[in-house]
Amino acid sequence: MSSTKTADLHTDPSLYSGVDVYAVAGNPIAHSKSPLIHQQFAQQAKQAMHYGRLQPELDGFAKVAKAFFSAGGKGMNVTVPFKLDAQAFANQVTQRAKLAGAVNTLWIQDGKIYGDNTDGRGLVADLLSQGVRLKDANVAILGAGGATRGAILPLLDAQVKSLHIANRTVEKAKNLTRLFDTDKLTFSSLTDLPTDIEVIINATSIGLSGDTLPFAKDMTVDFAYDMMYGKPSAFLDFFKAKNAKTSDGLGMLVNQGALSFALWTGKQVDLTNFHF
Ligand code: ATR
Repeated sequence: MSSTKTADLHTDPSLYSGVDVYAVAGNPIAHSKSPLIHQQFAQQAKQAMHYGRLQPELDGFAKVAKAFFSAGGKGMNVTVPFKLDAQAFANQVTQRAKLAGAVNTLWIQDGKIYGDNTDGRGLVADLLSQGVRLKDANVAILGAGGATRGAILPLLDAQVKSLHIANRTVEKAKNLTRLFDTDKLTFSSLTDLPTDIEVIINATSIGLSGDTLPFAKDMTVDFAYDMMYGKPSAFLDFFKAKNAKTSDGLGMLVNQGALSFALWTGKQVDLTNFHF
């Protein structure tokens, strides 16, 4: 069981003098790995930093974020279910966060709150660091929620040949393709994936709850990636059994964190020998 104390869920920057204070906000948040990850980044970059947790009530993000920044907090990562609240809270949001429809990174500068989104770029950085070829590849992503939306622009920027969005509710996949001005995006139901997919990414919870996978038995890919981590994945097992390379989403978490850290501190961390 977690030994996280209640106080640890409500980081108060005024209690940490002499160091910059950051936090991850979510609900629930006790089991977040972000504090551990950023502690390692800070050590490597020789940055005096405390990185804690915040667990606002489900309708209380703005109140907690305001108190955190008013008390001297420098920056915040934001996770489920507050990424839309974070977007609304920021005074200024980057163009890519607007396209992602969500904000996962906040910081304060000259009294103004800025918002960006590093999730999709973290995904792409992790795929590339694992040797996955994205350039000119046919890529499919399952799901049409916020996680998929945030991944679209970074995948297009990685110069994929095509990006297919497959979703249980086809209408939602179709609506996502309409947000982006490119003919590289296609969409379908989960059962109607193109046959030439080389890289497949799961941005849904399918394969976690014991539900039957919707893929044709003969479907193959070179690489399968599940954004989830820390849980068994029937999605990954399905493609592993067909000799595909596979990865869970832990590296995406680490990479989105490194990108946030760089936004806050201007320092790039070297993830080559990163362990936590
Ligand atoms: P997130 O912001 O993490 O992407 P979300 O917006 O709730 O989360 O989206 C969840 C996605 O997982 C949706 O694409 C959802 O499909 P629908 O749009 O049809 O609801 C998909 N999803 C969740 N559970 C699923 C299941 N059991 N089978 C297939 N798709 C599922």
